[in-house]
Amino acid sequence: MSETPSKDKMQCNGLSAWFGSKQALKNINLTVKANSVTAIIGPSGCGKSTLVRCFNRMHELIPNSKIEGKVLLDGENIYADHVDPVLIRRRVGMVFQKPNPFPTMSIYDNVAAGLKLTGVKKGKNLDDIVKQSLEKAHLWDEVKDDLKKSGTSISGGQQQRLCIARAIALQPEVILMDEPCSALDPIATAKIEELIVSLKRDYTVVVVTHNMQQAARVSDFTAFLYLGQLVEYGATISVFENPKSELTEKYITGKFG
Ligand SMILES: Nc1ncnc2c1ncn2[C@@H]1O[C@H](COP(=O)(O)OP(=O)(O)O)[C@@H](O)[C@H]1O
Ligand SMILES: [Mg+2]
Repeated sequence: MSETPSKDKMQCNGLSAWFGSKQALKNINLTVKANSVTAIIGPSGCGKSTLVRCFNRMHELIPNSKIEGKVLLDGENIYADHVDPVLIRRRVGMVFQKPNPFPTMSIYDNVAAGLKLTGVKKGKNLDDIVKQSLEKAHLWDEVKDDLKKSGTSISGGQQQRLCIARAIALQPEVILMDEPCSALDPIATAKIEELIVSLKRDYTVVVVTHNMQQAARVSDFTAFLYLGQLVEYGATISVFENPKSELTEKYITGKFG
């Protein structure tokens, strides 16, 4: 657990989200503190993925989706008219449940691809960013001699760290991770957990997990969602040791899942 970080990096105010007529999020008010790890927990279908997808304007990519309310990034509403969602997705990166490196690309190109799209030319500068991103993702030492190998030739845990390196390469401010370890074995999971904790030095991290031990191990703050509503939010230690709501208490003690 780190010292108390203070700055609000993201906030949602009265956030509701729909898939067609199905409401998946109901009036969520939540603050994400800068340089901290915030865990989003709750049973399957409670809206965890929807919430993080509203944090970088990915929810709207689904046909017939809708949101109401605001999501602030450094105090500015990312849903305001003049805001370019592509820039938001660069500032607020995302890592998914199943590692998804670009299958036809080398390890190097997986990290470099997004940068090339933003206009960074081949050469030493690009090489340096690729190296730094792989270092920050705790993968460099394992792949430095194999940068030309396919991004899918490495283990699942390494592929997930490659996806984290790919996100880091674009210099995001916030990194969203949606159940990043659910496809991984315990050793690969431990490595990602260690990485998550180290990332908060440079980034703000939001991690969705259905693994409560994982939330307790890696996060500073925890939000518990249930049926699309935010039931409880607070410092992880108090949510786990002294929950305010009976529902939270039942969930974290495994009385329902
Ligand atoms: N593409 C979609 N179309 C319609 N309903 C969806 C879609 N994705 C999710 N939902 C519904 O929205 C609710 C929240 O889903 P989700 O955010 O994926 O939950 P979680 O990540 O907590 O498992 C669920 O009831 C789910 O069935
Ligand atoms: Mg989900």
